Amino acid sequence: MIEISSRKRGRLIEYEVGSVVIRLIPGRKVYMPSAATLLIARNLEELDGAEILDLGTGSGFLAILSSKLGADKVVATDVSRRALEAARENARLNGAHNIDFRLGSVYEPVGSETFDLIICNPPMTPSRTPLPGYTWGGADGRVILERVVKGAPEHLRKGGRLIMPVISLVGVDRVYALMRRVGLKPRAIDYVTHPFGRTLLRLINYVKGLPDADFFYDGLGRPCWRLVLFEALRT
Ligand SMILES: C[S@@+](CC[C@H](N)C(=O)[O-])C[C@H]1O[C@@H](n2cnc3c(N)ncnc32)[C@H](O)[C@@H]1O
Repeated sequence: MIEISSRKRGRLIEYEVGSVVIRLIPGRKVYMPSAATLLIARNLEELDGAEILDLGTGSGFLAILSSKLGADKVVATDVSRRALEAARENARLNGAHNIDFRLGSVYEPVGSETFDLIICNPPMTPSRTPLPGYTWGGADGRVILERVVKGAPEHLRKGGRLIMPVISLVGVDRVYALMRRVGLKPRAIDYVTHPFGRTLLRLINYVKGLPDADFFYDGLGRPCWRLVLFEALRT
């Protein structure tokens, strides 16, 4: 398992992912690396020569990491202009020059291009009303992630993989079944658990009413979600 640590370094935040160092500019109202981001990061191995799509790049962290792990080409997309600007600046700061940043929703910015690996940490917080764009996954939390899964087979080369975390509040079994239905071969490769943050604590009664949501209480009585990391292969 790859070790990850982070610290403040002047005005920057510095992450060490194994032997890779990434520095990010904080405070740009952009999604900064979270438990889900780091769960993906610790499962990325050498990517020598690979072509990668980082869907919903946020700060650009996973795109920069992919570049530093040897990817030949990285396409990083987001619907947020602000996120893309921040990600571009972070990429420059880290000397990651082979990232192509593109604005647009889900697969729109890549047309019919295909990749060896698609990485996506989709917005998955379920809520009837909109939340800040980078966390809202629609009423059941699956709106974006289902589009990502359904479009994956036509954007992956044979033997290519989709790596995506799924939060237990949106129904892990349902997403697994969808991956199989679209012809991918999924397997769970890692997981983490985490206490609900402020937004989810506010939404807890709504979450309790969702038929597929699953969470547990830890020893301190805090509600916690599970996050399962899937690797889904295009055979
Ligand atoms: C949970 S954040 C993940 C950011 C980053 N990949 C990470 O793991 O730190 C989700 C990102 O997806 C972007 N996003 C939301 N809806 C999207 C869509 N329809 N198409 C592409 N990106 C989207 C958000 O702006 C946000 O940057």
